[in-house]
Amino acid sequence: YVLGVDLGTSAVKVSALDHSGQIVAQESFDYDLIQKQPGYNEQNPEDWVSGTTVAIVRLILNDHLAAEDIEGLSFSGQMHGMVLLDANNKVLRPAILWNDTRSTPQREEIEAKMGDEFVDITRNQPLEGFTLTKLLWVKENEPDIWKQAKTFVLPKDYVRYRMTGNLAMDYSDATGTVLLDVAKGEWSQRICDVFDIPMSMCPPLIKSIDLAGTVTPAYAEFSGLTTATKVFGGAADNAAGAVGAGILHPNMVLSSIGTSGVVLKYEDNADVNYHGVLQFEDHAIPDKFYSMGVTLAAGYSLSWFKKTFAPAEDFTDFVASAAKSTVGANGLLYTPYIVGERAPYADADIRGSFTGVDGTDQRHDFVRAVLEGIVFSFRDLFDIYEENGGDFDTVVSIGGGAKSPLWLQIQADIFNRKVVSLKNEQGPGMGAAMMAATGLGWFDSLQDCAETFVHFGKAYEPNPENVKKYAQLHKIYKQVYQQTKSISA
Ligand code: XUL
Repeated sequence: YVLGVDLGTSAVKVSALDHSGQIVAQESFDYDLIQKQPGYNEQNPEDWVSGTTVAIVRLILNDHLAAEDIEGLSFSGQMHGMVLLDANNKVLRPAILWNDTRSTPQREEIEAKMGDEFVDITRNQPLEGFTLTKLLWVKENEPDIWKQAKTFVLPKDYVRYRMTGNLAMDYSDATGTVLLDVAKGEWSQRICDVFDIPMSMCPPLIKSIDLAGTVTPAYAEFSGLTTATKVFGGAADNAAGAVGAGILHPNMVLSSIGTSGVVLKYEDNADVNYHGVLQFEDHAIPDKFYSMGVTLAAGYSLSWFKKTFAPAEDFTDFVASAAKSTVGANGLLYTPYIVGERAPYADADIRGSFTGVDGTDQRHDFVRAVLEGIVFSFRDLFDIYEENGGDFDTVVSIGGGAKSPLWLQIQADIFNRKVVSLKNEQGPGMGAAMMAATGLGWFDSLQDCAETFVHFGKAYEPNPENVKKYAQLHKIYKQVYQQTKSISA
């Protein structure tokens, strides 16, 4: 077996998979956020270690997996969280997480000192969510802790360190620190110099499928694993999710509708520069990349609308009612900016809208407008790909958007591309297990592994007539942002 450890923000989920990619057992363990002030989101790294260990112990004791059959394991990790370590690799303070927004002054400092040069090196904006602004926050606000800091890692790297005794960070997570020179594939001396961060603080870089070490005798005793279990690098959760969804070829894009939505595209090289409008990160495949953009209120738009106007109705029936409306929702258009928008606008002040409300509109028209509006917001990102010469013909839909045949068809028509869902959607833990399986040599590459582990369901083909209608409506959709920007602030 291999284990895929999905180290999330609310829980860790550990899945055991066999050689055919079937899940044989799964255990999870929840942990809390520490929120001392508005905007502060921290976690205790020890909780990740003990949560992961409890899940592994349960796999062995409750699910009766023989420890000697667990050949290897790897990780998917919540991104960007800063774990600061001293000279003895002891944790110096709670980890500051990806969703912590305290570091706006540091973001502004980076922008003022480096401007476009920063984006050209890291391919990303220096957002509050990313690790560098958190490091600078500690440097400025907790100088006593900063003095003792010898290195930093990200959440899953810390768990891996506790299992193997070896400190490392994989490239996919390293891009998310915004300290990496992405085109060169090495830590940026220039950024370290400008912000007076010793290069020696940056941990050794490894690939996602590299062997990071074997389980130490101490961790074997703690967890019940054997010291023969091999531990592989692993990847950032978005990279691992892309691996698990088969986004491993240049012609593929992921469309993920969770609370927020993610459009993620496989990138064959780092030649394209989106100037930070999209995030650009190393993939779990060596020397390959992915770009991604986030719609803040994707599934959240739908759950907000349902909670407000149809709280008692069954969710599936509620979504299916949109079939009673027409392509273009009887002239009704929704923009999903109800909590602001990240990509492509990076605008926290904009708010959503329904336009074109007609006296004949019924609730099902509004439901359809919400489904369509979410997909239009993804379509904005497809336009950026097309403007940059991106060529792709297959969209893999996961999350809420993949559960409704109607929504899958709407995606195919608005994207004007073939849309497929996964037969057995497992999330980033599947990608993590695939990295262990490939690292162990069960397969020659992650792409080979996907042939056995990842299976696509029915393909939804674009309907030319609907494509034409939606292309027209998307032009109007784009104007709504421009026209409502000044009245939303
Ligand atoms: C991506 C991001 C989130 C976290 C969630 O930049 O911040 O997707 O990775 O764990």
